[in-house]
Amino acid sequence: MRPIIITLDGYSSCGKSTLAKAMARELNYVFIDSGAMYRAITLYFLRHHIDPKDNSAVRQALTEINLDFDYNAEQGTSDMLLNDENVEALIRDMLVSEHVSEVAANEYVRAFGVAQQQKMGLKKGIVMDGRDIGTTVFPAAELKIFVTADPVVRVERRFKELLAKNPRITIEEVKDNLEMRDYIDSNREFSPLRQAADAKVLDNSQLTREEQLALALSWAQETIAQKA
Ligand code: DC
Repeated sequence: MRPIIITLDGYSSCGKSTLAKAMARELNYVFIDSGAMYRAITLYFLRHHIDPKDNSAVRQALTEINLDFDYNAEQGTSDMLLNDENVEALIRDMLVSEHVSEVAANEYVRAFGVAQQQKMGLKKGIVMDGRDIGTTVFPAAELKIFVTADPVVRVERRFKELLAKNPRITIEEVKDNLEMRDYIDSNREFSPLRQAADAKVLDNSQLTREEQLALALSWAQETIAQKA
């Protein structure tokens, strides 16, 4: 069977990464979390006081950034490496979430991210999740999925996840952050979040993880069989 490219795009906290990771494990494909790349760049900018509006500082900083994934197929993990440092836990921090959309909207950051993601897809056999993967990174991907969920469900899911790490976090903070990121991600000039015209929509508001995985895998298997 010829390997294909599967893209998963959608708003923040729709469960895209969880689904993409599970699909990759079942299909024996490589999972790539493109959001982790923008988060790692944001962490670098925060540490080095890079203003995302200062294009010359941004361009210089990007020459100092090397991104990689420490991929462990057996454990099903894919940890983000920033200049060889494992930053997987740090990039999930609220501070990074507060700044990532602004950083990801910068045109040089986007060109940097998109070029690296396209390189990772050369061998196919990947499941990549993000915001512009089916529209800009891989417009010819064989299977595109646009994941959605009710905003109330998304806030609750994200709140539960963050509460485990930070007992002082409030549901309002989480809601504000999701709304802000969705707004910036959808309205930025360069490769905004859009549903690709040929994407299949998966609304997981009322689905269990197992049910959404079964549905997405049925689409994948159907597409792989057609393209083989
Ligand atoms: O998927 P995530 O929530 O970890 O992504 C973090 C941010 O990165 C998100 O708010 C927007 C940005 N992003 C992007 O602009 N393009 C992508 N392909 C993936 C993420």
